[in-house]
Amino acid sequence: MKLAFFDAKPYDKPAFDACAADAGIKIKYYETKLNEDTVELATGADAVCVFVNDTVNAEVIDRLRQLGVRTLALRCAGFNNVDVKHAYGRLHVVRVPAYSPYAVAEHAIALLLTSVRRIHKAYIRTRDFNFSLNGMTGFDLHGKTVGVIGTGRIGRVFIDICLGFGMKVLAYDKYPAPGLDNGDTVRYVTLEELFAGSDIISLHCPLTEETYHIIDEASLTACKRGVVLINTSRGALVDAEALLAAIKARKVGAACLDVYEEESDLFFEDNSGHILEDDTLARLISMPNVIVSSHQAFLTEEALSNIAETTVQNLLDMENGQCANEVCHRGESAEDCKSGKCF
Ligand code: NAI
Repeated sequence: MKLAFFDAKPYDKPAFDACAADAGIKIKYYETKLNEDTVELATGADAVCVFVNDTVNAEVIDRLRQLGVRTLALRCAGFNNVDVKHAYGRLHVVRVPAYSPYAVAEHAIALLLTSVRRIHKAYIRTRDFNFSLNGMTGFDLHGKTVGVIGTGRIGRVFIDICLGFGMKVLAYDKYPAPGLDNGDTVRYVTLEELFAGSDIISLHCPLTEETYHIIDEASLTACKRGVVLINTSRGALVDAEALLAAIKARKVGAACLDVYEEESDLFFEDNSGHILEDDTLARLISMPNVIVSSHQAFLTEEALSNIAETTVQNLLDMENGQCANEVCHRGESAEDCKSGKCF
């Protein structure tokens, strides 16, 4: 099988090379992202492999189909960048539903601790032999209330870690996880209660029409003054302009962002020699209480191995006609799809 691998980065190759050769998969790596202009690079490929910021719209899907590509393998969990409805009946879309929930949850905690204990400031100060503690006062996580939106794989690992710190959890999910609410340290509440009662809010739900800008001006108004917002899920869950306004108004105490709505042209690339055109991002980064990492929450050795192994297995399964990680046109995985009729 021939695989055209888009948006390839040096850290992707070792894990994919290690398992693809044994599976008889020949990979051509392309640094460019997949979109209408680059789709021709898939000529001769049986399958394409893409990541979070490749563009897989109707036009790209139609051209891939004309080129003879049968399978689109996402090497990530989210598939909001794929027109799955249009792909139905044209391309099989497979994904990696979970590669390391620990990687993402631990990164969310790393951002939180960095922010509230001012580690990012301390690192810069002590390198300059500035050992002053002025302006470095943080707060204990113990005893604080954290609101967790989305209690799936990552959200639940994040909750476990928070409980270890002695925090209380207010959880919200469209489909609450059975047995998670213990009536004490973890309670499912409405979104309104979560906004009103949380000192810290962490987003772990997927990006859908329902969750688009789940954090906007209205929800930020409903939050506690000084709330700390963590987003390691998808950028468009947060209205960045509203967040910026709330930071300026001192309503939001700190923001930890691993993702950003307009990240696709910036993140994963070295833009240090360029003038940043995105004024909202530039202003957010300039804030002393905002930490931005460039969609790196997934980036651990364990996750990269799991991504490569699952993607290769997905491609082999699809060759054999069925794959549990296929995404249907309603956006469900085969394993979750009750009817199976849409595949
Ligand atoms: P999951 O599918 O296990 O959990 C998602 C949870 O969100 C589910 O419990 C689901 O019921 C809930 N949900 C769905 N619609 C909702 C709504 N309207 N309101 C509230 N909750 C809703 O997914 P997992 O593995 O926990 O991943 C969560 C998200 O994390 C992914 O969708 C992805 O966007 C993001 N992610 C980010 C990474 C990064 O590197 N920054 C890496 C991997 C995932």
